[in-house]
Amino acid sequence: MGPVYTDVVDLHLTVRDMVEADLPDLACFYPPIYLDNMPEHLEQARGGAVDHLVVCTQSGMPVAKGAVSYEKKPGYGEIWWLSVRAELRSLGIGSVLIRAAEERIRARGLPWAELAAEPNNPRAQALYERLGYVVYGSEAASWNQQTEDGTVYLYETTVTLLRKATHP
Ligand SMILES: CC(C)(COP(=O)(O)OP(=O)(O)OC[C@H]1O[C@@H](n2cnc3c(N)ncnc32)[C@H](O)[C@@H]1OP(=O)(O)O)[C@@H](O)C(=O)NCCC(=O)NCCS
Repeated sequence: MGPVYTDVVDLHLTVRDMVEADLPDLACFYPPIYLDNMPEHLEQARGGAVDHLVVCTQSGMPVAKGAVSYEKKPGYGEIWWLSVRAELRSLGIGSVLIRAAEERIRARGLPWAELAAEPNNPRAQALYERLGYVVYGSEAASWNQQTEDGTVYLYETTVTLLRKATHP
């Protein structure tokens, strides 16, 4: 093996509202079951109930996706559906996305940003706590998931709820 060179580059990232043209780029890090319904969700976003955000590199390619829901709990913007392209995890992109989502919640004058973590995802919860979120409860949650052979089933779990004040 020849010599190994290491270097550091800056990633110039932008966060913007997702559009339908982003869908093909999300396919490599987002389950098809969610992408299939995305046009419907984007229609909802146009009505203001939810924001769908993508993080893009300088070339415009989306590398992360998340959403903020405003209508589930009064006073809360709920950040969910977070996913960063697998090869680019642990570089800070998820944190950039969460901060942009918090900005959206703050801009609406809502006092709380909320994130939910599954018990089997302690690294995600550790990240949220590092970003200033504090556990304040738990609740039953369920959503559709898909097995490798394409079967869709209802996944049921209990999530830990974490929140952060938008105006500390
Ligand atoms: C969770 C997630 C959105 C974080 O984005 P990210 O760009 O990796 O986050 P950052 O680089 O800002 O922070 C890295 C931290 O995220 C946390 N993390 C959670 N799940 C992770 C994963 N699957 N891979 C890497 N980091 C993960 C860790 O605490 C990590 O810190 P560490 O590398 O020191 O352990 C991203 O890792 C991801 O898409 N995971 C798979 C989907 C998921 O778990 N979504 C959250 C549902 S609650």
